[in-house]
Amino acid sequence: MKMHLDEKIWLTLSFGMIMIFMLITGYQAFALEMGPPSNMETIDPQKVDQTAPFDKPGIKQIGEKEYEVVMTLQAFSFNSGNIEVPAGSTVHFTLTSKDVVHGFEVAETNLNTMIVPGHIQKISQKFEKPGTYLVLCNEYCGAGHQMMSTTIKVK
Ligand code: CUA
Repeated sequence: MKMHLDEKIWLTLSFGMIMIFMLITGYQAFALEMGPPSNMETIDPQKVDQTAPFDKPGIKQIGEKEYEVVMTLQAFSFNSGNIEVPAGSTVHFTLTSKDVVHGFEVAETNLNTMIVPGHIQKISQKFEKPGTYLVLCNEYCGAGHQMMSTTIKVK
């Protein structure tokens, strides 16, 4: 196979670029630990109700405009749901599932995560704009999946 010089140049350049991108990504992931946020706390999904903090689900004020929400997801509800916080609050969610995989998506925000039984998910969000935010389960979890929703009211 005969190769033109400019083909060789382009092949070398593109291969070199791929190697550089992979090195940058690898450096960020392993040396700078810039991987996606992850939380490896586990829980016995059979004993969620008896395990702290899920034995007392609810909302707790932990600072000025800072709240902690402990919530369990189960077919087909969020406990506790219908949460209310003042505008400008940062809410730290601690979530787990009591049965199957559910989703936790808050419309109009970047909050969107899977809630996997056996794992504890922690995620935070600042709510600046007043309004009623729809919270949806976006993982198919059974016959009532489409009814699984709640709200977060920001006043
Ligand atoms: Cu829970 Cu779909």
